[in-house]
Amino acid sequence: MKVLVVGNGAREHALVWKIAQSNKVSKIYCAPGNGGISNIAQCVNINPGDVDTLLGFALKEGIDLTVVGPELPLVNGIVDKFNEKGLNIFGPNKKASMLEGSKTFSKRFMEKYDIPTARFKSYDNAQDAIGDLDNFDCPLVIKADGLAAGKGVVICNTYKEAEDTILQMIEKNKFGDAGKNIVIEEFLEGIEVSLLCFVDGKNIVPMESARDYKKALDGDKGLNTGGMGCFSPNPILNEGLTNRINKEILTKIMTGFNRENIEFKGVLFIGFMITEKGPKILEFNVRFGDPETEVVIPRLESDIIDIFTKVIDGNINSSDIKWSNKRTLCVIAASGGYPESYEKGKLVSGLDSLDDDILVFHGGTKNIDKDIYTNGGRVLAVTALGENLYEAREKAYKNIKKVKFQGIQYRNDIGKLD
Ligand code: AMP
Ligand code: GLY
Repeated sequence: MKVLVVGNGAREHALVWKIAQSNKVSKIYCAPGNGGISNIAQCVNINPGDVDTLLGFALKEGIDLTVVGPELPLVNGIVDKFNEKGLNIFGPNKKASMLEGSKTFSKRFMEKYDIPTARFKSYDNAQDAIGDLDNFDCPLVIKADGLAAGKGVVICNTYKEAEDTILQMIEKNKFGDAGKNIVIEEFLEGIEVSLLCFVDGKNIVPMESARDYKKALDGDKGLNTGGMGCFSPNPILNEGLTNRINKEILTKIMTGFNRENIEFKGVLFIGFMITEKGPKILEFNVRFGDPETEVVIPRLESDIIDIFTKVIDGNINSSDIKWSNKRTLCVIAASGGYPESYEKGKLVSGLDSLDDDILVFHGGTKNIDKDIYTNGGRVLAVTALGENLYEAREKAYKNIKKVKFQGIQYRNDIGKLD
């Protein structure tokens, strides 16, 4: 079987690493891939947003299965286009991808099917939004409706900040078309949980849970990032809460899909806030998370190709998916300055001195003459497995200390539970 993975992050490296373990796979391509992926797959220089060129490549090479990492090609309809040509592809179609492509769409979906989420209202006009602000207490949350590479959510502590944010988004085009419409919602307090689920059109099967760290600095200070570290499972999801989520939330999501004629096949990533009043949904993503994938996939014991095939065929079952009891934790090594401006092209050293059982998934890296250079903001995900969270954490930190590149920064408190 020839497999094409679309994307270039540590998430895609983890997927390619797992796919390479399947005895059904003879060749893996990755578009465009990165310095780490190039050691286990053939990288092809096609941008993930360039759906037509990806389609042409898949047809020409006779790709048997395409797996899509990032949201942009999904929201742009890559799955519909591949399906029209009879190609097998793992991911939701354009209509289903609206759950990530439009916050208004996903909030209205949750409202309609009585799925717990923050109280909200949508706007396409700055004056209406500003006029309505006193319906929300501060802090409040303002979200660009469309895709904004994880930067379109602003938590405002004052009404003045909220007014400025609204004007920036709607009138000053801070996020281009993505911010022409906005959502204002109440601020939820609690502990976040990332729950990725396989959905096959009829059935929803949650994977093991994870906890992501979105802020750049220790103690959840600093700017929002794509994610600075992660661990799995997330201990807050005890049995009672898991049952409640399954019964009260996942069932409603599937009922909603059914009634709205949304044929969702792929990974539904549910971002939860566990509040005093129970679990509420912060967001849907229509793909694997990054860095969640780097801690969840190493715990998967089953053949991932079998799972992808069953999801596409519409017959996935929880008994098809076996998980290791090990705990996993990853720390992201980022370029100095990230998530704001940073330099690329720094030589990475120390990777060959890491313990044998450490998994290093590359994000923004480039391979030049067998040397690895930085090529993005989030450079490496250093992942360790342990019998418990403490052990996984100790191993990850012991090893990330051996990795060097100019300007390296990482959080020191991933998995430090308070
Ligand atoms: P989103 O892209 O909607 O998940 O938002 C990104 C991050 O912003 C979330 O993971 C939360 O940390 C935070 N966030 C989003 N919505 C809310 C909310 N209503 N209350 C508190 N924090 C939020
Ligand atoms: N870790 C959050 C995301 O993948 O969007």
